[in-house]
Amino acid sequence: MAPRVLVLNGPNLNMLGTRQPEIYGPETLAEIETLCRDRGGSLGAEIDFRQSNHEGELIDWIHRARDTQDAIVINPAGLTHTSLSLMDALIASELPVIELHLSNPHRREAFRHDSYVSKIAAGVICGFGSHGYELAVEAAIRLASGRTKAG
Ligand code: DQA
Repeated sequence: MAPRVLVLNGPNLNMLGTRQPEIYGPETLAEIETLCRDRGGSLGAEIDFRQSNHEGELIDWIHRARDTQDAIVINPAGLTHTSLSLMDALIASELPVIELHLSNPHRREAFRHDSYVSKIAAGVICGFGSHGYELAVEAAIRLASGRTKAG
């Protein structure tokens, strides 16, 4: 069975391309979605790519992923640094989680240095811009494949 990877994007990431391109890069979220689908497709995976500005909607999608996906890649955006509820939802999914950031939050303001999601993620990829999404999808597929093989 093809590994299924949910790629989730948090608040304000729909603004990519125009939002602080000097920090987040010039690509739009649609272009990043294409990168994920191409990389996922070439590795035989199914990619479900989503973005929401609403914490509750992200949490609902994570709950649903428990029975429909094999791994989660998430750029939680600002919720990285604030949302215990998002972290709890990811724990409840019982899926491997890859945390992803376009920028390197550790080089930025102190309030970006802490992440709730890092506390439960299998791994974190940050600072590589849109290429980070390809790296994260690849890492998620590896983790997901281990799970699907193990049944
Ligand atoms: C971000 C980093 C966060 O600190 C910020 O709030 C974002 C984007 C990134 O991809 O670099 O919205 O997650």
